[in-house]
Amino acid sequence: MTALLKEMPSHIVQGDDDFTYKVFYRACGFVLEIGVKPPSELGFGTMVWDAALGLCQYFEEQRMRFSQRKVIELGAGTGILGILTVLLGGDVTITDKPELLKRIERNVSVNIPSSCRPRVKVCALSWGDDHTLFPSDYDFILGGDIMYSRASVPLILKTLQHLSNERTIIYFASTMWINRNLISSGYQTLSQYFDSDLVYRNKDKYVNVYRMTKKTPSDGDRVVP
Ligand SMILES: C[S@@+](CC[C@H](N)C(=O)[O-])C[C@H]1O[C@@H](n2cnc3c(N)ncnc32)[C@H](O)[C@@H]1O
Repeated sequence: MTALLKEMPSHIVQGDDDFTYKVFYRACGFVLEIGVKPPSELGFGTMVWDAALGLCQYFEEQRMRFSQRKVIELGAGTGILGILTVLLGGDVTITDKPELLKRIERNVSVNIPSSCRPRVKVCALSWGDDHTLFPSDYDFILGGDIMYSRASVPLILKTLQHLSNERTIIYFASTMWINRNLISSGYQTLSQYFDSDLVYRNKDKYVNVYRMTKKTPSDGDRVVP
């Protein structure tokens, strides 16, 4: 089976309410140390999902760099993808629900050298709720395994519509076995408003990476009023 990233032996963490394990990944020449905890009352965001790893692997294969690029990650969970994007030069806003931010901050502080700290922000962003507090000039929007519930699709759509402009590139990844029909129907909804291409697939882990850009009114397609 093809691993998504080189995962190194993990450590059990004793006496830490935030993390049960430290997991180490090698990506794009960096070793990332990520604190994780099994899903709990905080939901699914306390562990690393294969979609985040799939995007890290895609960035590695494409030798992507984000220097001078403004990036926002939605539903960041542990923050691993946003952290890698900062290390690759990006000016990155890592977002999730408020209750996840303390753990993301901890992972950021372990992995991001102080010289890069001015390029990272960790902020609460609940889809379809407080997205309008953020600007619309991002170069990239990232999301790993955030399209897993039918109810969240219209919220994510609203959020993407606000955060993006016609130059914004959106990379979303999904672990398709979670619920292939539901996930596909979510991407189908987004494809009414965004041009979408499948750019990468890890067949063993069943992870797809999609690249999306906003349709403009001249495309003759529907645009959310
Ligand atoms: C399956 S986890 C994926 C975490 C991470 N992206 C990864 O791939 O490892 C989904 C994430 O979406 C976040 N989330 C769920 N509903 C949300 C909402 N309405 N607004 C913002 N974030 C949300 C969760 O807190 C969680 O971190």
